[in-house]
Amino acid sequence: MNPIYERERAMVTVRPAHSGDMEAIRAIRNHAIEHSTALWTQTPQSPAEGAAWLAAHLERGSAFVADVAGEVAGFAVYGPWRELDGYRHTVEDSVYVREGRHGLGIGAALLDALIAAAREAGHHVVIAGIEAENASSIRLHERFGFQHVGTIPEVGTKFGRWLDLTLMRLALT
Ligand SMILES: CC(C)(COP(=O)(O)OP(=O)(O)OC[C@H]1O[C@@H](n2cnc3c(N)ncnc32)[C@H](O)[C@@H]1OP(=O)(O)O)[C@@H](O)C(=O)NCCC(=O)NCCS
Repeated sequence: MNPIYERERAMVTVRPAHSGDMEAIRAIRNHAIEHSTALWTQTPQSPAEGAAWLAAHLERGSAFVADVAGEVAGFAVYGPWRELDGYRHTVEDSVYVREGRHGLGIGAALLDALIAAAREAGHHVVIAGIEAENASSIRLHERFGFQHVGTIPEVGTKFGRWLDLTLMRLALT
């Protein structure tokens, strides 16, 4: 049997987020801020910022959580890619899985639900902006049909080095 099919998979349910998920989402997000180059800042999100950020997503129905055995094991959100109204049919996604739960299919379950919701909402294109060395996120997006648009060298910095941004695109309609 192909070893890929022997991997452990998490029993995951993806559901719309609600305000009670805020602290779990904030903890996952802040862990990524502190330990990775997935988010290009070293400033953690405060509880007030986390609540405001999630409230904006809840209002437009663009936040989802992965429930594994009653615990929030990851989240996915989408929001405007750029602010000017000419970009209104394009959204950008973010997917984060709790440390220690990577590689179990949770990110795939979240991205699957997010794409379905963005399509249902009538959006045209989803963009992913990914740090160029983030192999798991690039693979995850490839698996759902996102195509590489290009990589912009050295547009970010964190942990004392330049970061390259890989842009990927999925057409929904
Ligand atoms: C990127 C992330 C969301 C992927 O979620 P995940 O639950 O770990 O991924 P899955 O188990 O659903 O796997 C999805 C695909 O990525 C692949 N993958 C997972 N980890 C990988 C790694 N370290 N290197 C290469 N591919 C990897 C899997 O093999 C799978 O592809 P396949 O089905 O073709 O085998 C998760 O690793 C994460 O939260 N990382 C930290 C935050 C982050 O980088 N978020 C994205 C910001 S753009």
